[in-house]
Amino acid sequence: MRVHVADHPLITHKLTVLRDKDTPSPVFRSLVDELMTLLAYEATRDVRVEPHTIQTPVAETTGVRISEPRPLVVPILRAGLGMLEGMVKLLPTAEVGFLGMARNEVTLEPTTYAERLPDDLSARQCFVLDPMLATGGSLAAAIQFLFDRGAQDVTAICILAAPEGLAAVEKAFEGHDVTIVLGAVDDHLNEHGYIVPGLGDAGDRLYGLV
Ligand code: PRP
Ligand code: URA
Repeated sequence: MRVHVADHPLITHKLTVLRDKDTPSPVFRSLVDELMTLLAYEATRDVRVEPHTIQTPVAETTGVRISEPRPLVVPILRAGLGMLEGMVKLLPTAEVGFLGMARNEVTLEPTTYAERLPDDLSARQCFVLDPMLATGGSLAAAIQFLFDRGAQDVTAICILAAPEGLAAVEKAFEGHDVTIVLGAVDDHLNEHGYIVPGLGDAGDRLYGLV
């Protein structure tokens, strides 16, 4: 498993505004979208391409195009939905599948309440979107779900991670083709399973309390 923490002043700047408790929902949503596009650039560094020959107005030349089968982008509902547009802006030909997961706020265990994904993911490059990697339970369950459908190559994109959750996911997928791209690794998880300093509840800040 590989972990890549994006190190860019624009990402740190946008993250600082995102973390601010006084940042209102509309600004929060725009920032998640902008951060996602910056992280998507890092996360698609190894997207599979194949040679493609075209004719310019002057000469024939060979470049590349995204390989078939097309990559699959999987936002984890709800909060991952806020990252979808930023991702497909960079990868417009990707297909999109959905996984709905909710963490029990007492036990911190995730449950999967919805799924709309192809049955066979073998040979598909999969990109999982979830802004928060806290205990790592939700992300580990999502990655395992994709592996169970035959995926061999999964890249997860998260805005913030706690070191404890990151270590748990690394342990679970040691030796697998999994890459995690992160905006930042924070200090720790608190006793309620929240990332510290974090940004609070990403789903609630994007879409309101449920
Ligand atoms: C949040 C977040 C992750 C999960 C992270 O979702 O978006 O999916 O918690 O926590 P974990 O690493 O400890 O599993 P939540 O369950 O609150 O659902 P929501 O996106 O619908 O708000
Ligand atoms: N989920 C969130 O939205 N925020 C956290 O800090 C932890 C889990």
